[in-house]
Amino acid sequence: MQELWRRVAVSPGKAILFGEHAVVYGYPAVSLAIDLPTTTVVRAFDRETSTLDGSEEGFQRIPYLVQALRSTSAKGIDVSIRSSLPRASGLGSSAAVTSGLLMALTSKNASSSDPATLAARSYEVEFAAQGVGSPADTSTLCAGGVVSIGGSGYGKNLWQIPPMNHRGPWKVDRLPDPGWSWVVAYTGIPKATGKVVSAVGQAVGAGKTDVLERIGALAERGIAAIFRADRDEVGKLMNENHRLLAELGVSSPRIEEIIEAVRSETLGVKITGAGKGGSVLALARPGEESRVAHLFAQVGTVPFVVRVSSSGVRLQLSGPTSPTGASPAPPSS
Ligand code: MEV
Repeated sequence: MQELWRRVAVSPGKAILFGEHAVVYGYPAVSLAIDLPTTTVVRAFDRETSTLDGSEEGFQRIPYLVQALRSTSAKGIDVSIRSSLPRASGLGSSAAVTSGLLMALTSKNASSSDPATLAARSYEVEFAAQGVGSPADTSTLCAGGVVSIGGSGYGKNLWQIPPMNHRGPWKVDRLPDPGWSWVVAYTGIPKATGKVVSAVGQAVGAGKTDVLERIGALAERGIAAIFRADRDEVGKLMNENHRLLAELGVSSPRIEEIIEAVRSETLGVKITGAGKGGSVLALARPGEESRVAHLFAQVGTVPFVVRVSSSGVRLQLSGPTSPTGASPAPPSS
């Protein structure tokens, strides 16, 4: 079978610094693109069926792939994903696959891709696959660097994501990267974001809206602290944000055990992402990141010392059709 074209997209991971869950309801959040890459290789063939590493069933089992393909007129592709992110770890694995595949399907070459359009489409696809959620993950991966989603306009505006299901719109603004290293630790408990977001929806329906408001106000203070590169204040706000997430019901005894084991040795530590499992994010004192990672390992988590990835999802051009990328274009509807 002849390969028509091949595209390789590389996406960073993400860690929410402030405001997860509240951002779903339009409150502000701050998010970091982190240097844990996911590589999506897409090859197109002259055939009807699409596969994941050669398996049609494997492809159909991943709703993000099915929805991304459905949103274009492409067919007959084989997708291969290599990721340094644990699956369902709260570090953006599904958003990375979604935006990586969409970028490969819709961009002829690195310069033909528009991050604002890609961010809007990636959110539509992720929402269709997940049924709930905000554009925080997909916009972070498309923008790279540090961003606020739904903030009150401190940073330069990158784009706006239109409303979905009566929520939004969300303004996505660029914040400065203070240049620090961060420690993320995967608890080893995979958690599907959609399920946790739906459970929070029930708590909110039962009257927990004041917690969301407090998280939103805290995220605004977080944006100001990031602009000042005030490391101590960012850490303090992370601890406060964690307490509010626990009040919202997305912590667990195991997460509290992990957080307790490192809290006094960090400036701040919190759940990052949906919670109930997934990962936690810590800000260490300068130069103490490896020591904090070691403490995380001692309590049985999988730690990563990461930095902000200034680059968002990008296309890497590769053969065999053309070394210049001037290959027959895949459908780009
Ligand atoms: C997940 O990374 C962040 C949540 O706020 C969900 C969302 O924004 O879609 C929990």
